Amino acid sequence: MTDQLTPVLTRNWGTERSWMIDSYLNQGGYAGLKRALTLTPEAVMNEVKDAQLRGRGGAGFPTGLKWSFVPQDNPNPKYLVVNGDESEPGTCKDIPLMMASPHTLIEGVIISAYAIKAHTAFIYIRGEVVHPIRRVRQAVTEAYANGLLGTNILGSGYDLDIIVHSGAGAYICGEETALLNSLEGRRGQPRLRPPFPAVAGLYASPTVINNVESIASVPSILAYGKDWFTAMGSEKSKGFTIYSLSGHVHHPGQYEAPLGITMRDLLALAGGIRPGHELKFFTPGGSSTPILTADDLDVVLDYEGLAAKGTMLGTKAMQVFDETVSVVRTTKRWVEFYKHESCGKCTPCREGTWWLVQILDRLEKGQGHPGDVDALLTVCSTISGKSFCTLAEGAVACVTSAVQHFRSEFEAGLTTPAWELLPYGASSAFAQADSEVAA
Ligand SMILES: Cc1cc2nc3c(=O)[nH]c(=O)nc-3n(C[C@H](O)[C@H](O)[C@H](O)COP(=O)(O)O)c2cc1C
Ligand code: SF4
Repeated sequence: MTDQLTPVLTRNWGTERSWMIDSYLNQGGYAGLKRALTLTPEAVMNEVKDAQLRGRGGAGFPTGLKWSFVPQDNPNPKYLVVNGDESEPGTCKDIPLMMASPHTLIEGVIISAYAIKAHTAFIYIRGEVVHPIRRVRQAVTEAYANGLLGTNILGSGYDLDIIVHSGAGAYICGEETALLNSLEGRRGQPRLRPPFPAVAGLYASPTVINNVESIASVPSILAYGKDWFTAMGSEKSKGFTIYSLSGHVHHPGQYEAPLGITMRDLLALAGGIRPGHELKFFTPGGSSTPILTADDLDVVLDYEGLAAKGTMLGTKAMQVFDETVSVVRTTKRWVEFYKHESCGKCTPCREGTWWLVQILDRLEKGQGHPGDVDALLTVCSTISGKSFCTLAEGAVACVTSAVQHFRSEFEAGLTTPAWELLPYGASSAFAQADSEVAA
């Protein structure tokens, strides 16, 4: 089974002081940059296009194609902005990557900025994660000291500065246009599109926004070539990616494997469900993606495979729940998050998430009103497609899919508290917490 692992981004994570530049260079780091600087920016862009790299931030948009939207005849400066806001429940890949190997990201930033002819790049990192912010800042300092940033990088004549920005502590600041507002010092709320950021983004200038993992995947494409990259993955979802597995798996963590692996094989890599238990449901791509159940173990984990199942690959964050878990409680916890993180700009999302929590709360307590389960779906339909950004779609996806798969558990909430149906102590993933509940 382990031959399904494809450690590229995670290859050096176990190396002694892997975050230091000497360690990175000893492992062959910055080879992709050296090759890129011998090519024209257009050739670098074409290499990434031909590699068919798709954005790892959620939507899977082709990265090279996005870069090609930058109008080079626009006289304004061009900007590259890296989205390191990582706040989706269950998602844990960009932060470990920045902790373990910040130079992989920095090398990717230099190559990507070169391709779009930007001379300033920003790395926007979730504000709460102070340690990775320090790591990336230290790595940027090392890169300047080694002639990899600043003027005339490695004697190529190309100049680039990187600014590491500490985020504003809100999930919505991961949405790319809210991120740009936040970076400009404004309130982090999404912008109306068009214009799209590629045309008028940061400071109304052409801007490419890419996820940390997308940009960190670029150096290996330049070092080993597009054919090497496209040899991995499935027909339309090429390459490798980092899946984060959490919850009731035997060995939670990050697993780097090709796109197109099945959930069954990925679970096996993580040692399966915790001993003595069985899978009940899981998120394929973080809490914003409709849940799947034990019947879907053979689903192919790529953009097309999950779309065929009515869900999404999203951030490739598998939150795994066994038979001890109350789906009503889990859904309420997720929706509480979206209610808290709704930026308040538009009424359906701001008010609707509040109402969802009210209904889910009484269903969890066994105090549901007749018609509450249908009311949940009605509120979802007043949010979905009627809100300004896709935070709202994520907020309802967990509710509608949970009701679809486990309606009887929600109906039981008219009379029976969720903790009587499924005592919460049994679902604790930690022995210590188990004993505390028992006491
Ligand atoms: C509410 C919300 C939060 C988001 N959070 C993130 C995030 O933390 N990191 C990220 O890369 N993309 C996030 N996205 C997606 C971004 O808007 C954008 O699509 C992504 O950064 C593009 O990068 P990619 O093309 O490399 O995938 C979020 C979107 C929404 C609607
Ligand atoms: S959908 Fe929600 S998060 Fe998005 S703009 Fe509207 S209120 Fe803000």
